[in-house]
Amino acid sequence: MSRLYVIDEMISAKAIAARIEELAKLIEAEYEGTEKLVVIGLLRGSFIFIADLVRELDLPVEVDFLEVSSYGDAMESSREVRILKDLRGQIEGRDVLVVEDIVDTGHTLSRTTEYLLARHPAKLKTIALLDKPSRREVDFKADWIGFEIPDEFVVGYGIDYAQHNRNLPYIGKVRFTE
Ligand code: IMP
Repeated sequence: MSRLYVIDEMISAKAIAARIEELAKLIEAEYEGTEKLVVIGLLRGSFIFIADLVRELDLPVEVDFLEVSSYGDAMESSREVRILKDLRGQIEGRDVLVVEDIVDTGHTLSRTTEYLLARHPAKLKTIALLDKPSRREVDFKADWIGFEIPDEFVVGYGIDYAQHNRNLPYIGKVRFTE
């Protein structure tokens, strides 16, 4: 990475925490009475979001992770999603919530959902912290969204730019200075 950039705050840590409290209530209502909810984080961008979300959930939960290849370079034309790290647990017949950082073109979450549905969970819902609807290439809508944002490149709160800035406590917009 060689280009210089600055980061302008877009969504504060406080606003994220407040939104997660609201989302947790909606999720609790949806999965009320569940024996145990399997919360699946898509690595790596969702790791902070899933950590904060599960701590707000007043439900029995199990946490698992799935890593899929991000699109780009050679994958650009096929938009294929490859599984880099599979789940440890079983999801057949179980209640599942898939947690993603951003829905951009929609390919990652729509393909991942198809992949997980093939394992026949009892119920599968998706949540993404951020949504960029203007970038969508496939007809995909997460069941819950934290914030809808414009077509800007963002970092922080688990989200990176070339493996930088994941540890910012807020969501920031990348602005190139050269
Ligand atoms: P989609 O398949 O285009 O929806 O891809 C979603 C993935 O692209 C996210 O999980 C992120 O890894 C990445 N991504 C999309 N927009 C951004 C961004 O603004 N900053 C960092 N990563 C992003």
